[in-house]
Amino acid sequence: MRRKRLNIAIDGPSGSGKSTLAKLLAKKYNLIYIDTGAIYRTIGLYAMRAGVDRTDTEGVISLLPHMKIEMTLENGGGVVWLNGERMGDELRTPECSLYASDVSKIPAVREYILELQRGIARRNDCVMDGRDIGTVILPKAQVKIFLFASVEKRAERRLIELREKGEDVTLEQVLEDMRWRDENDKTRKIAPAIPAPDAVMLDNGGLGIEATLDAASEIIESKVKI
Ligand code: DC
Repeated sequence: MRRKRLNIAIDGPSGSGKSTLAKLLAKKYNLIYIDTGAIYRTIGLYAMRAGVDRTDTEGVISLLPHMKIEMTLENGGGVVWLNGERMGDELRTPECSLYASDVSKIPAVREYILELQRGIARRNDCVMDGRDIGTVILPKAQVKIFLFASVEKRAERRLIELREKGEDVTLEQVLEDMRWRDENDKTRKIAPAIPAPDAVMLDNGGLGIEATLDAASEIIESKVKI
């Protein structure tokens, strides 16, 4: 029998550095990197383009049958496709972040993309980042890390990222959006963004990228032979 696929779950709030860490781990251990937030962002983008308000639950649900969301693998990472269109930087705007956070509260949306995520993890050794990977999507993942830092620290990092992309935003705006999104993601009724009971908590507020990678590698190597 083929051995069980290695699944590493990285959860945590926005701006905690999940995607940076997950990409580095994927490279280091030769795993596929899957960014599940990009899937919620894609659904948010579709609603945005369709002119449906992000809090209009019924409106968003009515769009689902018109969306074909697929994921292909390229250079060791997942690429999301929406009705044949390759998703990229259009998913990364502040407005799209707010849309993603709101549409992700809708149970039908989460259900709609559940199997897409699980299927990829069944077929690939992967490191998957999101909010509910350790709790809902891959409860049997061999390694679960919950990455976090203070909201101020995370906002500072996100500001640099957005400015590099040419977005004209202030620290106050980023901080405000992040606080709102933290609360929205944490307090929702379905799959709230909280650590799994068996997740290892990793506070990277005072750590640089290399140190975070070292700490995560130590956690992984203490749990699996890799
Ligand atoms: O990781 P991100 O910032 O790209 O995610 C965007 C939004 O999607 C986030 O505010 C909450 C939602 N999300 C989720 O509910 N579950 C996931 N596994 C990943 C993201």
